Amino acid sequence: MATNLADGLGPLAKKLFIKTYGCQMNVYDSARMAEVLAPLGYAPGEGPEDADVVILNTCHIREKASDKVYSELGRLRLIKDQRAEDGQQTVIAVAGCVAQAEGEEMLRRAPYVDIVLGPQTYHRLPEMVARAHRASQSGERGGGVLETEFPIESKFDHLPLQRQESGVSAFLSIQEGCDKFCTFCVVPYTRGAEFSRPVMQIVAEAEALVAGGVRELTLLGQNVNAYHGLNAEGREIGLGSLARRLAEINGLARIRYTTSHPRDVDDDLIAAHGDLPELMPYLHLPVQSGSDRILEAMNRGHDAESYLRTIDRLRAARPDLAFSCDFIVGFPGESDADFEATLDLIRTVEYAQAYSFKYSSRPGTPAAGMPRQVPEDVKDARLARLQALLMEQMTAFNEASLGTTCDVLFERPGRHSGQLVGRSPYNQAVHVDAPGHAVGDMATVFIETCKSHSLGGRLLEGDRPESGARDEKRLSA
Ligand code: 5AD
Ligand code: SF4
Repeated sequence: MATNLADGLGPLAKKLFIKTYGCQMNVYDSARMAEVLAPLGYAPGEGPEDADVVILNTCHIREKASDKVYSELGRLRLIKDQRAEDGQQTVIAVAGCVAQAEGEEMLRRAPYVDIVLGPQTYHRLPEMVARAHRASQSGERGGGVLETEFPIESKFDHLPLQRQESGVSAFLSIQEGCDKFCTFCVVPYTRGAEFSRPVMQIVAEAEALVAGGVRELTLLGQNVNAYHGLNAEGREIGLGSLARRLAEINGLARIRYTTSHPRDVDDDLIAAHGDLPELMPYLHLPVQSGSDRILEAMNRGHDAESYLRTIDRLRAARPDLAFSCDFIVGFPGESDADFEATLDLIRTVEYAQAYSFKYSSRPGTPAAGMPRQVPEDVKDARLARLQALLMEQMTAFNEASLGTTCDVLFERPGRHSGQLVGRSPYNQAVHVDAPGHAVGDMATVFIETCKSHSLGGRLLEGDRPESGARDEKRLSA
């Protein structure tokens, strides 16, 4: 996905092109990188062909991420050479988790790359770009800039406050890094130790976004509910309390957060789901596997039973809560019985949405060296069965929306005049004929049609349920 941010600089502005891979954290980071470069005169361009600075913001979590980056870099090299013949300079930067993991190796394998920077160093990007320019103007060879240290100071103290550019719904990064060390995962190595931004910094950013028209915030973190930021009194607070504080902001209608870990769902967060209508009743709570043996080998720090208990407690606090999840099939040593346990867990929970992956061995992680790696064809067969079951549940969830009413937050114009497209509390796209309404409005909608990727409904004015509330039909579905 390419990130493009409007900026309003004149025709003399230098052009920036950022290509973003992977998670929402990277989307957020790309926006921040564009913002630190804006004061230097960089405005977003259409593509790499006319860009003075090209940034690949990479993701390392699954599959052959670095191979993909190197082949993209091969294409960029041709563009850079072509532009050089026309007397134009191109700075190529690789950011994100592949950059963090590859480091110096990347500058060796692709010497035309000017900057390799890890996720914790984005605030130093202007200085790096200036250094790269100087190096290439002086014809210096091997002048590549490498910044992959985990600095003592936080990048959040140096990045500008997020400007409002994303319309109705915006991401806000509140926490980064992970100390959980699941044995399959590279995040603790590429994103570093857990870090929580101070409450007041988050509140200031949220208020600025809301003042600019944002009505829905998605709080981001690799382990977002491990959040433990300092408040104005210097006391640590958790995600539940942070959500309560943010819910006080006038004009902020919806709060979401992702991605959470079952181990960090504490009593206060559960209570917040019961207390705050702003906290959307839709929670991404990955379990990865339903087998205790595999959960143990994954170092998840919980078993299937405790995960199910957490789901029950959340549902007790907020009965209309729906869940989404991540699953990995074919983790080393996963037997047929282990896999069946995952299917059983799925049948018990009934998910609204899910993401499932074949285990892919990540160099340097403990699971990569484990015995009894599962053959590809077994992984394929398990993934197909798992996805078929999840697809049934996702379809059933969407179909259960028929005949219900819900609040829809309008995000963009629809296909024909008078139509708007918004989101239900469950993040479903909803198409509505709403000529009297504008993007940014919230309206009560009766759901009449259900397609595979969206719902359709009609306005029900007057009778407004609270944000996120569903009627009896859904509650008993
Ligand atoms: N193989 C397969 N899936 C993985 N994930 C993370 N690491 C791996 C891996 N090595 C999945 C997990 C995680 C999601 C973001 O990506 O399900 O929750
Ligand atoms: Fe990776 Fe596990 Fe941390 Fe999630 S909790 S980022 S899967 S190590």
